[in-house]
Amino acid sequence: MCGIVGYVGPQETSGRPLDVVLEGLRRLEYRGYDSAGVALVGAGDGQVAAAKKAGKLANLVAEIDANPLPAASAAIGHTRWATHGGPTDRNAHPHLADDGRLAVIHNGIVENFAVLKAELVDEGVTFASETDTEVAAQLLARAYRDSKDLTTAMCEVARRLEGTFTLLAVHADLPGTVVGARHDSPLVVGLGDGENFMGSDVAAFVAHTSEALELGQDQVVTIRPDAVEVLDFDGAPAEAKHFTVDWDAAAAEKGGFESFMDKEIHDQPQAVGDTLLGRTDADGRLVLDDVRIDEAVLRSIDKIIVIACGTAAYAGHVAKYAIEHWCRIPVEVELAHEFRYRDPIVNEKTLVVAVTQSGETMDTLMAVRHAREQGAKVVSIVNTHGSTIPRESDAVLYTHAGPEIAVASTKAFLSQITAAYLLGLYLAQLRGNKFPDEIATLLDDLRDMPRKIQTVIERGEYVRAVARSMRGASSVLFLGRHVGFPVAMEGALKLKELAYIHAEGFAAGELKHGPIALIDEGQPVFVVVPSPRGRDSLHSKVVSNIQEIRARGARTLVIAEDGDDAVLPYADEIFWIPQAPTLLQPLLATVPLQIFAMALATAKGLDVDQPRNLAKSVTVE
Ligand code: F6R
Repeated sequence: MCGIVGYVGPQETSGRPLDVVLEGLRRLEYRGYDSAGVALVGAGDGQVAAAKKAGKLANLVAEIDANPLPAASAAIGHTRWATHGGPTDRNAHPHLADDGRLAVIHNGIVENFAVLKAELVDEGVTFASETDTEVAAQLLARAYRDSKDLTTAMCEVARRLEGTFTLLAVHADLPGTVVGARHDSPLVVGLGDGENFMGSDVAAFVAHTSEALELGQDQVVTIRPDAVEVLDFDGAPAEAKHFTVDWDAAAAEKGGFESFMDKEIHDQPQAVGDTLLGRTDADGRLVLDDVRIDEAVLRSIDKIIVIACGTAAYAGHVAKYAIEHWCRIPVEVELAHEFRYRDPIVNEKTLVVAVTQSGETMDTLMAVRHAREQGAKVVSIVNTHGSTIPRESDAVLYTHAGPEIAVASTKAFLSQITAAYLLGLYLAQLRGNKFPDEIATLLDDLRDMPRKIQTVIERGEYVRAVARSMRGASSVLFLGRHVGFPVAMEGALKLKELAYIHAEGFAAGELKHGPIALIDEGQPVFVVVPSPRGRDSLHSKVVSNIQEIRARGARTLVIAEDGDDAVLPYADEIFWIPQAPTLLQPLLATVPLQIFAMALATAKGLDVDQPRNLAKSVTVE
């Protein structure tokens, strides 16, 4: 939520700072696209040069083309997801203070901004915007006037702010310098050769360097072309963790696809395959090196709670079915924002599993902290290295989906499910719930899934054609049982967020308890049919559900396994998926639903990568 980029380079006469920052913003635009802005220093006239524009980055670029900015040695840039103050030019970042000599950009929310603003207004400060960020800018200007040191001033301001923030600042007095601070909001530093970078995530600078520093909580960092200094908020030297980014800029490009979402759907076989890579030892035993929680503790847990939001929570629902079945441990799945506020029963025998692509979702982070305060161990399933949630967890199981740029999650979802399967099998192995050869067979089944996912993707043209024919639809329902239920909810979420169509996912068995009243002539209903080779009654119950809704006029869009002839008489459209064990079927059944939502939104002329009102990384509660 909000993307932040900073750059310092050696030459005061260079256009590179602006180029690097605009390029970084392009890569971070998925974090928010309500407005964009940049500020440059080094022009030598004692002022910061700034430009900002409401709307997508393209508007800012057009503005700069029309009114070019001077050469510089340092730059900061921001792409906004609006919180305080609407998405206008005026509220766009950067915010200037100190008579236009200081510029600040911000990600997060300053919760005590009203108190701080009142204090500044009393001192005669006037404000140009409605944002909490401008309060931080004015405070920084005041602190800088006192100390004459921007780093010291940033430490002082950071100590006073409450809420969440990443702040970056440049001052006209200080060419070649950017100062940043972070509290509960992401900031990473990119280490270049004679130049340095900052970003909300490594996508901001991965085209230039893969060497990075992950800032710790409550740290201030000052970058110059040849130096990086990290302090805590009290001004004492602090350590940031060095890491090397294991994907390159090409992985974050569209690679010939029409949209990032399309590319990411096509990335899924690899995302799942990479998440499975290197997880067994020479004897074929599952080893999760990252899960460094004492085995005795893992053996003693008597309950698992999965916490997550949105799509990641649906991955958690799939995890529940698999882990309970394999490990015989009760698993609860809870939306992270609900978990914290309901006084959950959590203790040292509870294992909390936090699932998050970004590793930055504030609701999930707060739930992780709450769980640990109650004595629970937390394992997080995370895609983004250098993010906050892994650092605050007892252990982390990384998914290896690579960068997910499209706002709607696709490959992260499949790799989260895959990681959850691994965790379930690992616990089953550790606790002796399954024989080694049973686990080996399940792992073989899992390793076969990338090939099968590829098959579903290759059948995508039929799904697209059906989606195009339905672009006038105003409501679509989704039904599933067992692991098909979270798949149905995920299909509905994808359609809502991309195509802005009313969509609802139901447990098929719940239909007769109310939702069946929605079925009318022509109502499109997707039904996820479980494997006929699994529990027989499950399959036949779903087939009966299809008959029930079809008898009431529904247009049935059925996702079924190859060879499942039982569905043929009742399906208006069939999307075939390869055969797989029931518990693993979500890895296949989700894919046609992703393609459907993307194709329908595209047919409506909508931007599938950046749906309205959304942001990729939700770093506010
Ligand atoms: C939907 C979607 C969101 C995220 C949710 C959690 O397509 O992407 O529902 O799944 O905001 O985000 P992470 O996984 O980053 O915690």
